[in-house]
Amino acid sequence: MTKMISIFDLEISNKRVLIRQDLNVPLKEGSIASEARIKACLPTIEYAIERKAKVILMSHLGRPKEGAPIESQKQFSLSPVAKRLAELTSLKVRLESNYLNGCDFLNDDILLLENVRVNSGETANDESLARKLAALCDIFVMDAFATSHRAHASTQGVAKYSPVACAGPLLLKELRALDKVFLSPKRPLLAIIGGSKVSTKLNVLTSLSRKVDLIIVGGGIANTFLAAAGKNVGKSLHEPRMIDIAKEIMEHGRIVLPVDVVVSSEVNEAAESKIKRVDAVSEEDHILDIGPLSISRNRELVSDAKTIVWNGPLGVFEISQFSTGTRELGKSIKQSNAFSIAGGGDTISAIEISDALDGISYISTGGGAFLETLEGKTLPGVSALLGK
Ligand code: 3PG
Repeated sequence: MTKMISIFDLEISNKRVLIRQDLNVPLKEGSIASEARIKACLPTIEYAIERKAKVILMSHLGRPKEGAPIESQKQFSLSPVAKRLAELTSLKVRLESNYLNGCDFLNDDILLLENVRVNSGETANDESLARKLAALCDIFVMDAFATSHRAHASTQGVAKYSPVACAGPLLLKELRALDKVFLSPKRPLLAIIGGSKVSTKLNVLTSLSRKVDLIIVGGGIANTFLAAAGKNVGKSLHEPRMIDIAKEIMEHGRIVLPVDVVVSSEVNEAAESKIKRVDAVSEEDHILDIGPLSISRNRELVSDAKTIVWNGPLGVFEISQFSTGTRELGKSIKQSNAFSIAGGGDTISAIEISDALDGISYISTGGGAFLETLEGKTLPGVSALLGK
């Protein structure tokens, strides 16, 4: 990992420590649907509180209208997060909406700044906004790996204007796990890329095809590769305009395609399904999962691998009869001794249905940030710390 100052290098006691976290949790009817991101932030908060820092947290939530007060868009308020943080830490957490011209601790242990994305200039990385955020602290801690692909005022600009800017524990943990895959991986290094479209993961596939030893593809992505290999994919979700690109990717890397598949003429819970060799797929078929031969071949590849990176499901895993390929993959990774990392999009739900959460060496909090790292991109929220 490139050298940068970390919170562990600094004396933080009695200092105003402004920590950018990613508390962008999914909400369903106002309740937190998954608190994984909140829990991932707790060790950082505990570290700072134990050292008697004056802890100020900031995060975005969703994509509110910039420049409009939170009162007019309450569905984007961090209020449910503030409440849950107070419960989880047993500390007094105050949600502060009026902070751009300074804010004081009253009788609180933690100040949580209201959704930073309602501030005008946040996403444009406006200098005056970044300076106002920086003025709130003695030390800025970037700990939001999951938002580090955004060059925003609260992720990048603030680092530039803060007296001191450093990396937080969660950011360091995420970067270390990714370094194990990309800097000095134990080989064979296996990537598993599922999901619906080649077009949304084109850069990931191109970049990985040059770095890893093999890529198992699944879902609609695999269908496009099957079509590129000259197979009939019938009515399956695939992208004909990506076929030439898929052929190019296959020339650079070893892409592992399914050898058998689960097909159906409909995509629903009640659909009747059949297992077919990929050569036997008909015009009426939808490919919805991989078949048993592909599952056992994947199991062998996983068991041979020393490092595994996983993003995306291998089939329509939301429908239980088409989830076997994804579930069995999760189980195989759980049983393997390889270092494994997973993240991005639907991956966490896919791992949850496999009951393999405790079998993955590291589960990233990143969605887009995880994918951009796989693409080999520099993350602006991380590079902002390098010159400090
Ligand atoms: C995420 O959920 O991937 C991050 O919180 C970033 O959110 P964004 O895509 O709205 O910038």
